[in-house]
Amino acid sequence: MAFALVVVLGYLIGSIPNGLLIGKWFCKVDIRQFGSKNIGATNAFRVLGPWPALGVFLTDALKGVIGVYIGQTLIGTPAGQLAGGIAAMAGHNWSLFLGFKGGRGVATGLGIIAVLMPKITLIVFLVWAVIVYFTRYVSLGSIVGAALLPLLVWAMGEQTEFLYFSLVAALFVIVRHRPNIQRLLRGEELKIKAGKVNKS
Ligand code: G3P
Repeated sequence: MAFALVVVLGYLIGSIPNGLLIGKWFCKVDIRQFGSKNIGATNAFRVLGPWPALGVFLTDALKGVIGVYIGQTLIGTPAGQLAGGIAAMAGHNWSLFLGFKGGRGVATGLGIIAVLMPKITLIVFLVWAVIVYFTRYVSLGSIVGAALLPLLVWAMGEQTEFLYFSLVAALFVIVRHRPNIQRLLRGEELKIKAGKVNKS
């Protein structure tokens, strides 16, 4: 029962589309109409500018933290924490409020691993940052970071639950990057550049 509650609450929290809400409330822009059309921090950076993007990143990451916290409070085991976290990622990626569409799960996933595996998070973040710096493709950094996560969890001897979690989380992120992968292969992926939609 507690497990089901954790999953439902995590999923509902994860479903809150922060990128869409911040864009609409503060910038009067539906970010699903511009750039990559994704609701995440990268597209918020591209479409709304750096400050709204920071807000989207922090609130999306917070959803992962809250998912873990719910699992910790109601179940109190690593499996419970991970169930809350992965449910939040599922909500973000396939949101109840957006007809089961959503984001890519990167910031929410980062929130989860930052709480549970800070050292690994730092390594993943550094690899992501180097790739993004040299290629200007955020999606490439996210895909490589996601693929690297289970390898690091395994190599650093983390508990088995964390390994299972990282495999599912990597799958969630990579599956949602399918349009980015297609654009990367065609050489048409959008490079990162801060912007602001000109609506006039
Ligand atoms: O975290 C999402 C990023 O990897 C890709 O975002 O907007 O370029 O599809 P976007």
